[in-house]
Amino acid sequence: MNAICPKATKVSFHDYQPELDNFRQTVLNGLAHEHKQIPPKFFYDERGSQLFEAILEQPEYYVPHVEKQLYRDYAADMAALIGKDTVLIEPGSGSCEKVQLLLDALRPAAYVPMDISGDFLRQSAATLGAAFPWLHVHAACLDFTRELHLPQNVPAGRRVVFIPGSSLGNFDLPEAQHFLFNIAQLVGKGGGLLIGVDRKKDKAVLETAYNDAAGVTAAFNLNLLVRINNELEGTFDLEQFAHYACYNATMGRIEMHLTSLQDQSVQVAGRTFHFAQGERIHTENSYKYHPEEFITLATAAGFKCEQHWTDAANLFGIYYCTV
Ligand code: AVJ
Repeated sequence: MNAICPKATKVSFHDYQPELDNFRQTVLNGLAHEHKQIPPKFFYDERGSQLFEAILEQPEYYVPHVEKQLYRDYAADMAALIGKDTVLIEPGSGSCEKVQLLLDALRPAAYVPMDISGDFLRQSAATLGAAFPWLHVHAACLDFTRELHLPQNVPAGRRVVFIPGSSLGNFDLPEAQHFLFNIAQLVGKGGGLLIGVDRKKDKAVLETAYNDAAGVTAAFNLNLLVRINNELEGTFDLEQFAHYACYNATMGRIEMHLTSLQDQSVQVAGRTFHFAQGERIHTENSYKYHPEEFITLATAAGFKCEQHWTDAANLFGIYYCTV
């Protein structure tokens, strides 16, 4: 990088100010609910984003390891289908790690990472811009579960949305359908979607993946209570809640909860909430899809599935679909 060509000219940042105030009302409503619940998007404050990156390093959490190997093995096939000079859009881009396995093959005209965690996005976009000097990066800080804006200076070109990491798994079926439909609208006719989706599989493999031995997933789950304590004057005693993750085969999803280890009362934003011993706060669902299930869903949202790739153990699926 030199002074004649400063990074700032090819990495831009657009803050759509995702409504994080929402956090207070969502937590208060969720804790007042008969089945206490808080949606998973609130995991991702700065610390939560870092803990999630650490989850991705855990050997039990096979998702990123298998998925990255698929990108390494099939980047050329994927690029041949997707074509060059696209506007590549990644909702929930996090550290922008996986896209790096595709960039040299894909050579997009622009890359648009989107994330709810602003500082984390800013850093990731800058790091990516430095690693790929030819790449134009237009980062957008937003909540992709609510809006999918493209920054105004994004060049024209065929749009392709990239959703690795099985992020789709956080949505229940109607939400997933709606999200895919919105993506189809965003990319328009001829646009594409490259998406990684975790597959249904043996319960033991799934449960091990969400209960890593190092306790990183537990720390990630419990960080939500730390956030409530810090931001909403919460009084959660972290010693009195435990991480719990199990596969609900009927619903086809991993569920994460925080279990109260005793009868207790907790204050949040001046309100009192009671927990019975064993009572849980439901913090995340992670739906798993058989290939036929995902293809049916994508088709109903207006996509045609052109190709899909899976590993030898049938753990994970990557799909390329077009409108
Ligand atoms: C980011 C939603 C795909 O469900 O596997 C990982 C989040 N939570 N370990 C997933 C997560 C606990 C992850 N997604």
